[in-house]
Amino acid sequence: MKIAVVGSMNMDMIVHADRIPLRGETIKGSQIEYQPGGKGANQAAAMAKLGAQVTMFGCVGADSVGNELIENMERCGVNTASIKRLEGVPTGQAIITVGEGDNTIVIIAGANNCVSVGYVEENREKILEADIIVLQNEIPEETVEYAIRLCHEHQKTIVWNPAPARELDGELLDMITYMTPNEHEARVIWGDGESVESLLERYPRKLIVTQGEKGVSVHIEGKGMITIPAMKVEVVDTTGAGDTLNGAFCVGISRNMEETEALRFANVAAGLSVQKCGAQAGMPGMEEVEQILQR
Ligand code: RIB
Ligand code: NA
Repeated sequence: MKIAVVGSMNMDMIVHADRIPLRGETIKGSQIEYQPGGKGANQAAAMAKLGAQVTMFGCVGADSVGNELIENMERCGVNTASIKRLEGVPTGQAIITVGEGDNTIVIIAGANNCVSVGYVEENREKILEADIIVLQNEIPEETVEYAIRLCHEHQKTIVWNPAPARELDGELLDMITYMTPNEHEARVIWGDGESVESLLERYPRKLIVTQGEKGVSVHIEGKGMITIPAMKVEVVDTTGAGDTLNGAFCVGISRNMEETEALRFANVAAGLSVQKCGAQAGMPGMEEVEQILQR
């Protein structure tokens, strides 16, 4: 199966400190690193590292940072032929503070704002070559909506990771195959009147809610809510853990795993990913995940 990601690409500036600062507080940091990121690119990288056939659809600036991001995608084994380089627009960036395994992230969209409906139209045929389309919320809202409609019309499997949180029309929610918010994102989409458990029941096998250390939950008909607890590991940096989980889940689905099996697989991949600094650095290969699953 082929997988397409229509999404963001960022250069992450990672600032390390003993902890993340409080509002209004100044603290000393220890170092700054630059590493490729962006939820779209991270998810594409996670899938390619696990051996999937992935094409990235996105935009970068026609600058050296943009080139670095494209080269990184290539090194990861992602098909980069459709990534557009745009003059006069900066490549997307994220400013990340990491401390005690916690993080804060501010993103500056730059070229990610140019992943337009027109761009999707330009790449329509190539996108529709994929069986699974993976979307997040770091490109314009109308593009995400357009891509959902287009891919639904063509009976594609659609995976939507609604990060950062943004509401979506009920009609569009129905067109999606899998939605993978965290608790906070679920609250933004459905309000806080309904518990996670009842939301999951409303969307069996379709809604997947990640809850940090608590793990990841899904509702299976006749079985109820199933929660797969997060792996106990030494956390260095959780940046990109959600992206690894999402990417690995898609790989599981592309290999015809049941949802719960795909989540167990994804959970291990995400657990491994937090042991190194940077969104993509700790993302595992297939053998690493399988070794742990076989234990
Ligand atoms: O999910 C982590 C990612 O969020 C980072 O790589 C950063 O670029 C932001 O998009
Ligand atoms: Na990491």
